[in-house]
Amino acid sequence: MDAVRVREVLVRSRLPRHEARRLVAAVVGRSVPRLGLDDELSAVELRRLAELEARRLEGEPLQYLEGSAAFGPFELVVDDRVLVPRPETEQLWELAVALVERPAVIVDVGTGSGALAVALARTFPEARVVATDVSAEALAVAELNRARLGVEVEFRCGDLFDALPGELRGRVDLLVSNPPYVAEGEWESLPADVRREPRGALVAGPRGTEVLERLVGGLDRWLAADGVAVFEIGESQGEFLAEWASGLGRRVEVRRDLAGRDRFLVVRR
Ligand SMILES: C[S@@+](CC[C@H](N)C(=O)[O-])C[C@H]1O[C@@H](n2cnc3c(N)ncnc32)[C@H](O)[C@@H]1O
Repeated sequence: MDAVRVREVLVRSRLPRHEARRLVAAVVGRSVPRLGLDDELSAVELRRLAELEARRLEGEPLQYLEGSAAFGPFELVVDDRVLVPRPETEQLWELAVALVERPAVIVDVGTGSGALAVALARTFPEARVVATDVSAEALAVAELNRARLGVEVEFRCGDLFDALPGELRGRVDLLVSNPPYVAEGEWESLPADVRREPRGALVAGPRGTEVLERLVGGLDRWLAADGVAVFEIGESQGEFLAEWASGLGRRVEVRRDLAGRDRFLVVRR
C-alpha cells in the first residue's frame, strides 16, 4: 500500500479540519503544531484513525478520543468516567486563588477528573487538599491526574460532605465545587457529545439547583470562620441561589465569567 500523507488524510476526513488534525496528532503521538503535512501514516495508524473518526462522527467527545484535556497549563487524563473539564472551571480556579491567601485546608467536592483539586494543589503546595466524589470510577481518573502532576491530594468517595473526614469540621479555608446543576428536563436539549458524558456529573434533579442548595445549606459545619466557598452555577441560577443563601444568613456574591454571565457563587459564613 502506498504511503498516505497527513495532508491527504485531512482532505479526505469528514470531520472539521481542526478536529481531524487533533485526531491525527493523537494517533501519531505528536502535538498538533509538530504535525507535518508531509508526514506519512502507517497502515496501523490509518486503521486507528478511521476508528476514532467513526466514533467522533457518532458523537463521542473529542477529548475522550484523544484521552486528555487541557485545564489551564495542565494536560489531564479524561475518559467516559468523568466530565471533560471546561474553560469556566479554569476561571473558578483563578477566582478561588484570588480570594484566599495561604489556605491550610482546601476541599473540592465532586472532583471528577480531579481538575480543580490538582490545580489547587499545584498552586498551594503547602495546603492539605481533600477531594471527594460519589463516583469511585471518577476518583480512579482523578488519581491518575494526581500522580501525573506529582501533587498530594486525598481522595474520598461518598455523597457531598459525608465523604469528608470529621476532623475537618470548621477547618476548611477554601471549598470549591463544580457540582451537577442541569435540570432533568434540560438533558434532552444538550448537545449530543455532552450527553455522552456521565449524566450524574451534569444533572442535579428536577430544578437543577438541588445539589447546590445542599452544598450551600451544609457549608457552616465545614468552613473555617474566615473560610470561603466558590461554586460554579448555571447562568440563570445566580439570583435564586443568592437570595436563598442570604436567607440562610450566608454572605454571598454572584460573579460573572468572561462572557458576562452569572457563573460563580462566592459564599462566606
Ligand atoms: C460537573 S462534574 C465536575 C467535575 C470536575 N470538578 C470538573 O469541574 O471538571 C460534577 C462531579 O460531581 C460528582 N457528583 C455528583 N453528585 C455528587 C454527590 N452527591 N456527591 C459527590 N459528588 C457528586 C459527579 O460524579 C461529577 O464527577
